[in-house]
Amino acid sequence: MLVTIQEVKKFSGEFVKIGGWVIKLRSSGKLKFILIRDGTGWIQCVMSKAEVSDEVFCLFNSLTLETSVIISGKVNPDSRAPGGFEIQINDIQIVGQSVDYPITPKDPNEKDHEPDFLLDRRHLWIRRQDQVNILKVRHSIIRAIRNYLDSRGFICFDAPIFTSNACEGTSTLFEVNYFNTQAYLSQSGQLYQEAGAMAFNKVYCFGPAFRAEKSKTRRHLTEFWMVEPEVAFLDFDGVMNLIEDFTVEIVAQVLVERKNELQELGRDLSKLENVKKPFPRIQYTEAIGILRSLGQNFEEGNDFGSPDETILTQQFDRPIFVHRFPHQVKAFYMKRDPNDERWALGADLLAPEGYGEIVGGGQREDNYDVLLNRIREHQLPIEPFQWYLDLRKYGTVPHSGFGIGVERTTAWICGIHHVRETIPFPRTIYRLTP
Ligand code: 4AD
Ligand code: MG
Repeated sequence: MLVTIQEVKKFSGEFVKIGGWVIKLRSSGKLKFILIRDGTGWIQCVMSKAEVSDEVFCLFNSLTLETSVIISGKVNPDSRAPGGFEIQINDIQIVGQSVDYPITPKDPNEKDHEPDFLLDRRHLWIRRQDQVNILKVRHSIIRAIRNYLDSRGFICFDAPIFTSNACEGTSTLFEVNYFNTQAYLSQSGQLYQEAGAMAFNKVYCFGPAFRAEKSKTRRHLTEFWMVEPEVAFLDFDGVMNLIEDFTVEIVAQVLVERKNELQELGRDLSKLENVKKPFPRIQYTEAIGILRSLGQNFEEGNDFGSPDETILTQQFDRPIFVHRFPHQVKAFYMKRDPNDERWALGADLLAPEGYGEIVGGGQREDNYDVLLNRIREHQLPIEPFQWYLDLRKYGTVPHSGFGIGVERTTAWICGIHHVRETIPFPRTIYRLTP
């Protein structure tokens, strides 16, 4: 039976077999060192000429980067080894050769491959330790999100991917020919969550979202994963409280579960440990004041661009809310501030250290006539929204929700520059393969 590298510590002094891939080879006279990885970790295996047959010793010469092997040997405690153990090799079985593996291990002293070179080989790049770490953190974020919502009575209520309407504006829709009628890939499951909240009180969907974004920034994918909770009888302050509590908990759980991975990624953990309540809540107009005082030339009435968000978040040591945006820049479904109709009751949560928006949410318009007018004002067709209007016709209640992007959250928590490394196979304007 094979033992994983993670389990090796339970077998100190015993003989085990490990299946893995070669990541580094080193030779020092009669000693051969083989570093292998198996997805759960990596371990150094040592082979001494005196202890194996000539035949096995010679196999070392046919090992290359990413050759798959089964190594048999004794688990020896070694305080110098990173995991505390190394394997004293008895036997090597080569499972699959690897000729001219194109990706070299990441070496802080050497220039890395160009991003496009790596992205073209994403199916192999994901084997590298930094990518494994990022994607393990992603997994823990997803689990933390589900734990948070599931333990608080939210029902997972999946939204369709094929839709007949636009949720987040008509300019970023992917069109699909759906049996000779026009359909779109979902930009957001929110409208369906609103129906779910009226049935279950608290719901969420967790699925892919599609945006035909022409943006080439480090924050934009055309296909990304979003979690969208929605709650009945929740007002605007209530949803900001929920987003705050949710974010604090997710970060705390990932810090517990993935400390090693984050450290290996070089993440400054103190920055994450700082993610505590309360998050500053800044009105749009205040945010403009801050930007202007920093010499930014910001035109009132616009939405913030990525550079504005970067500068704004660099002023704070934790995530911040920006709320009450001019209604013109926000989606048709947002409720307006009853105290000042210029503002939409929408809030963005901006992650610190320049990461920018990771959550968008707010209170929804719950009045039938007002919502109907908004749909008209936004020049959207009424027909596909008839069911959505029904929610305001049959027992409407105030309700609010939000959407958090998994990739942007992963980029922030891992402290990496670009969202393309936070999803197994990224999709951007220029990339559909692998
Ligand atoms: O702010 P957005 O567009 O909000 C909505 O879609 C709402 N319907 C959510 C809701 O209230 N239920 O998107 C929410 C989040 C963003 O904050 C960001 O994290 C992520 O989704 N996101 C993207 N991530 C990667 N690439 C893109 N092109 C993204 N667009 C949005
Ligand atoms: Mg947004």
